[in-house]
Amino acid sequence: MKFAILTGGGDSPGMNAFVRAVVRSSLNLNPSTSVWGVIDGWRGAIDSNFKKLGKREMAGIAHTGGTILGTLRAPELKDNIDAQEGVALNLHDNNFDYLFVIGGNGSLKAAETVNKIIVSRGLRTKILVAAGSIDNDVCNNFGYSIGFYSAIDKSLEMLEWIRDTASAHRRVYIIESMGRDSGYLAFFAGIATGAEYVIRPGENVDYEKMANMINERDRDSRIIVSEGYDKSIEDVRIILEEIFTKRGVNHEIRTVDMGYFQRGGKAAVQDILHASWLAHSMVKCAFNHCESGFYTGYNIGHPPTVLSLEEAIDDENSTHYNLPKEIIEFAIALR
Ligand code: F6P
Repeated sequence: MKFAILTGGGDSPGMNAFVRAVVRSSLNLNPSTSVWGVIDGWRGAIDSNFKKLGKREMAGIAHTGGTILGTLRAPELKDNIDAQEGVALNLHDNNFDYLFVIGGNGSLKAAETVNKIIVSRGLRTKILVAAGSIDNDVCNNFGYSIGFYSAIDKSLEMLEWIRDTASAHRRVYIIESMGRDSGYLAFFAGIATGAEYVIRPGENVDYEKMANMINERDRDSRIIVSEGYDKSIEDVRIILEEIFTKRGVNHEIRTVDMGYFQRGGKAAVQDILHASWLAHSMVKCAFNHCESGFYTGYNIGHPPTVLSLEEAIDDENSTHYNLPKEIIEFAIALR
């Protein structure tokens, strides 16, 4: 068989572990297989840019951040039919039996669209998708996306650094977390570090109450703002400063954006192992001639959950726009 691997969307730690496991499992289980990397994600699929991969070059990559294959954004895949058809035809013309994709929401949607074209035209390639994103917004009622726990690790470390200086200066820090429209990364990092408050996307914040909470705090206060919230960290700073001025209270407030630092660096062990197990399971399914699908699976040694790509893109299957109330209660209870 001939396989291709694509890492799509924002890079997430664990993608390289996924690549290693697809390459090594494929070549070890069936040495006549050839495995190709799609260079620069969906851009490479549009431009037919493929590179043959071997077992040796997979050494030492599993724990590293980023992606050795690259991932350029290709926004035209969202609604440009020529680009979508181009990808389906490039995969077919290059005789790929399976395309293994690891990526976020955008990659899942692109895979589903291309797969529809493949099916309707009777083309060759099947597409198997795993969730790789620090946002944890990919069909996440079925598990956690690869890279999410690595990004929480980084966030926790940064939040503890900020605690040191916040506490030394008795300051309030307003800290932005990535996560697109999903509050997961901000919330889980906030729970881990014990932040004073985590503002989630769409939340109607009671700033007077937040100001009371800050007042009660002895030395440091850290307010985490999820990327999808409609006010910037600077807006939040100004609102709080106005309340403190009105009350005649003096609190120094600083802002900081954790942003791209959350996405980089080495992968958490969970992400390395989950990505590897999932990729290995997906390769075995491919050798059994499975249909296209979305794979999640976190219990190593147990078969992954498989959904059709149509089911996986259905937002009904995902809590990513609304954090479950249990998680919100959990975060509030630990403040
Ligand atoms: O999807 C991952 C992510 O890091 C989001 O959290 C963030 O909104 C986005 O990618 C940033 O994308 P870019 O790297 O294109 O600026």
